[in-house]
Amino acid sequence: MKIEGKEYHTIWFENYTVKIIDQTKLPHKFLIKDLKTVKDSINAIKTMEVRGAPLIGATAAYGMVLAIIENNDQSFLKTSARELINSRPTAINLKWAVDRMMNKLSGLNSDKILEIALNEAQLICKEDISFCESIGINGLKVIEEIYNKKKDTVNILTHCNAGWLATIDWGTATSPIYHAHKKGIPVHVWADETRPRNQGANLTSYELNEEGIKNTIIADNTGGILMQRGDVDMCIVGTDRTLANGDVCNKVGTYLKALAAHDNNIPFYVALPSSTIDWNTKNYKDIPIEKRNSEELSQIEGLDENGNIKKVQIYPKKSKAMNLAFDVTPAKYVTGLITEKGICEASEKGLKNLFK
Ligand code: MRU
Repeated sequence: MKIEGKEYHTIWFENYTVKIIDQTKLPHKFLIKDLKTVKDSINAIKTMEVRGAPLIGATAAYGMVLAIIENNDQSFLKTSARELINSRPTAINLKWAVDRMMNKLSGLNSDKILEIALNEAQLICKEDISFCESIGINGLKVIEEIYNKKKDTVNILTHCNAGWLATIDWGTATSPIYHAHKKGIPVHVWADETRPRNQGANLTSYELNEEGIKNTIIADNTGGILMQRGDVDMCIVGTDRTLANGDVCNKVGTYLKALAAHDNNIPFYVALPSSTIDWNTKNYKDIPIEKRNSEELSQIEGLDENGNIKKVQIYPKKSKAMNLAFDVTPAKYVTGLITEKGICEASEKGLKNLFK
């Protein structure tokens, strides 16, 4: 998708270096950063220079490529794989991508190992782009249906950033929106600010602006009253891990939006590529929910009067703060899962029908 009119992907490989867009500086500065070692990749994932389930998967896959460049040794590869998987615990794409890389690389004694690793990492990215595009084509039908009834702008609420910045291109939740916009359907997005890191304001609103899509940032607690007033036609969110029974783990606050949508009879869709399905975990209570640094809550970053990015303390110094990054929305509150293979019911039956 575009930034200042120029097409970008969120990650690419050039001259033995992985290039990323540093998302911690957006929307104030657009910076491309070099990752040269596996530690650089781990650090980029931990500090959320890259974030979003599919993108951290891709960064980990490229991290394995960097590990080979650094030290082509099987035990180093194994340690690197473990450290990459542990860099963020909730999004399943991370483990999925590293396992996929290790399936190709484990025990491989070939002078072509680097080429094989690079091909696989690039294939993961290529597939993600095509899956996200298909999610857009499939999700477009839902937006189109609402538009055909309403004959007016379709108001869509989304939470966090499941946009192209969270993937390689297109996004998951935003892909149907981009497709609708390209088809000339008038859409307007309510972007939940998404405290504490404000991915909705800093990233979703930013990327929609760059594509010319109307959007309004709202405080996280505003969705409820907008739904009661009839100002939301549908919700689409992304997910970091969807269980085979259809339970959806996503950025904290998603669950409350789903409850409000349910109470107001508003369709609540979750968009995901199959790499985000966790077929093994049976109970949502077994999903590791990331607890992040409380300073993400108590301090906030913005531009000062001289245009410099500055961090300030906003809570009483003595107060304790707790920062859980994700929650789980039970399948019963999800209207449908929009995947690359079509839309299905959020249930084991629904998912298994699409992914045999
Ligand atoms: O903590 P983040 O910014 O990585 O959380 C991102 C989300 O919760 C997204 O909704 C999710 O990764 C979906 S990715 C298309």
